[in-house]
Amino acid sequence: MNNISETNNLISGIQPSGRLHIGNYLGALKNFVALQEGGAHRCFFFVADLHSITESYDASTKQAQIVDVLASFIAAGIDPKRSTLFIQSHIPAHAELAWILETIAPFGELSRMTQFKDKSARQDDISVGLFAYPILQAADILLYDATAVPVGEDQIQHLELTRALARKFNNKFGETLMEPQPLLTPTPRIMSLHDPLRKMSKSEPAGCLFLDDTPEEITAKIMAAVTDSGTGIAFDTANKAGIANLLTIFANVTERTVDDLVAHYSTAKYSAFKKALAKAIIKKLAPYRKKKIKLLTKPEALWKIAARGNKAANAIANAKLTEIKKKIGLL
Ligand code: ADP
Ligand code: TRP
Repeated sequence: MNNISETNNLISGIQPSGRLHIGNYLGALKNFVALQEGGAHRCFFFVADLHSITESYDASTKQAQIVDVLASFIAAGIDPKRSTLFIQSHIPAHAELAWILETIAPFGELSRMTQFKDKSARQDDISVGLFAYPILQAADILLYDATAVPVGEDQIQHLELTRALARKFNNKFGETLMEPQPLLTPTPRIMSLHDPLRKMSKSEPAGCLFLDDTPEEITAKIMAAVTDSGTGIAFDTANKAGIANLLTIFANVTERTVDDLVAHYSTAKYSAFKKALAKAIIKKLAPYRKKKIKLLTKPEALWKIAARGNKAANAIANAKLTEIKKKIGLL
């Protein structure tokens, strides 16, 4: 009998693959902080650097990208004293468990992953790593007996695979792995500023509002955000997808409701509405920007924080890996 059903562990990772945008913030990071503050979970957050090398990248900037995500976590409010903050590649058990899970993962199911299909469609050099990526993600989660995984909507399918792998492993080798549940935010899908029918994504920087953008850049991007040729501010995702997306962002950076904003701006010109939104975003992100700039002046301190988190994560992950290896007869 093990006591894994009693965990309240929560885990999530962010790839160091480019600058974080407001979709990452509202869909993930903001929620991470709220969950940490809620106190109901033991939280683990990590820089998913092994995931980030599944698509083309520049090795000479990878360390800077890793430290940038560490700074973003802390600037957004992750407190390394309360949450374990670590770097995935420093915990060898992730890659090792991924291999073990690969031996039970169904090839057919992996081929149907939407993110794999999207990502492989936009590059020529498709690696086995890109294909196996969701299995590594399952390993990330299962090593920590995590029952809660806060993510944006695009990750739901990967969570389903994680659950399926846990079930399959448990059926074959006996109860060992916890089945995690996704935790979605109220804003699991922020759309691109250039095309409100597509998800805002680091892979399409033109439509992104980056968390590090200057106030001038934020204003310029919001004023240029694609809307429609109509008038009137209303939340209508079918006919006014651009305005609906801006309303969603507005509500979530101000903690006002969409209804309240619609009532307030219903007859406003798009330009006046956008100006007010830009101002609200600038205000909301100012403390984050300030803190992040300060943190990045001392990268050694950030590496030190990660080293402490890595140590704690290694202890937990290695213990779980040993349990798993015993179950499959390798120990
Ligand atoms: P991207 O797709 O921009 O490369 P990541 O894959 O690194 O972003 O995602 C990091 C986290 O942010 C994940 O939990 C993901 O679900 C969430 N996320 C990414 N894009 C969005 C979005 N447009 N709206 C809401 N959440 C998002
Ligand atoms: N695949 C996630 C993304 O692209 C990042 C990630 C990797 C992750 N491992 C994870 C998220 C484990 C939650 C849990 O955003």
